[in-house]
Formats: sequence, structure tokens, C-alpha cells
Amino acid sequence: MKQIELNDQIFELLLSSDKINEINTRLASNLNTDYEGKDPIILSVLDGSFMFCADLLRKLDFQHLFKFVKISSYTGMESTGEIKIETTLDLDLQGKEVLIIEDIVDTGRTMTAFVKYLKQKGAVDIKICTLLFKPEAIQSKPNLDYIGIEIKNEFVLGYGLDWDYRGRQYPDIYQLKKP
Ligand code: IMP
Ligand code: MG
Repeated sequence: MKQIELNDQIFELLLSSDKINEINTRLASNLNTDYEGKDPIILSVLDGSFMFCADLLRKLDFQHLFKFVKISSYTGMESTGEIKIETTLDLDLQGKEVLIIEDIVDTGRTMTAFVKYLKQKGAVDIKICTLLFKPEAIQSKPNLDYIGIEIKNEFVLGYGLDWDYRGRQYPDIYQLKKP
């Protein structure tokens, strides 16, 4: 599909599933090199990252402990700025290496707040792997260790990313078409 329509808005194809797979293979290869022989805690941020995470994990060949974490900040197409960590982390993070898997870094507030939270819990080596990064939207820049691809500051959906809980099902990623 070249474009999709949702709530009277047109979204154009930005990244095909083949392109996403290529990006995931590259990210996994870098992670496999850097984490060889290690055993990190991987935390994946719900809801948006579930599809990316499912694909990426299947390409990882190092031991790890995995958990989903629910963090919310978005309403509609805007980041609210209010970050809520809605999962109680029942893991001992003291002295542990943590790899965060995120779908997209937009203002950066979610990742900045989450990294701070993990540090307070005693995690030592916290790394972020994000599929998408919007450099023009950044307001609070966390250290991004693994970036799939940089994109323009336009709203995107598909491949797990939603617009008010819709549009997650597409295997490709679509970008809002400007009038
Ligand atoms: P940040 O705190 O502004 O960096 O926002 C991060 C979260 O907002 C991401 O984990 C996404 O869930 C969501 N988000 C940011 N940009 C988009 C977008 O273009 N489409 C869908 N969700 C987005
Ligand atoms: Mg997310």
C-alpha cells in the first residue's frame, strides 16, 4: 500500500517492511557484537514498540532477561510532556546493565525520564535502541546508542505505532501527508 487513510487524514508510505527488516538486521548485528557474552536486562516500552521488539528479539543471539514496561506520554498527535511509568518494575536493577528498546524518540522526554528512573533503581550501564528518531523534535536529548533511522518531524504510524490506538497493524510505516 502506497498510502492509507485514517480519520480523514492521508498517510504516505515512509518505510516498507523490507526496509524495516534491513534496519532491524543492522541493529541486531550491532547489538550482537556489543552484548556478546553479556546478559543484560532488556526493557521494551509499551505500547508502540511491541512489533519492533518482537522482530528485533528474534535476531538477538546473546542471553538476556526481557520485560515490557508501560510508559505513556502521548494523546492524539501531541506529546503531553507528562510521563507516566505505569509498570511496577519487580526486578533488581542494582548494578545491572539495561538495554531499552523503543519505537520512536520524539521530544526525548520519555527516554530521559525513564533513564533517570532506572538510574535511581541502581542500573549502571543503560543503553537505548530506538527504531526511529526525529532529531528536529528533540527537547530533552537522551544518549541514543542505537538508532534505526532518523526521520522528519512528521507524525508516523504503522508497525506498532498508533494514532489514538489505531493504525498499529500495518507492516510498513506511514507518515502524515501535509496538505
Ligand atoms: P517522546 O517522549 O516525545 O520522545 O515520545 C515518545 C513516545 O511518543 C514514543 O514512545 C511513541 O510511543 C510516541 N510517539 C512519538 N512520536 C510519534 C509518532 O510520530 N507516531 C506515533 N507515536 C509517536
Ligand atoms: Mg514508544
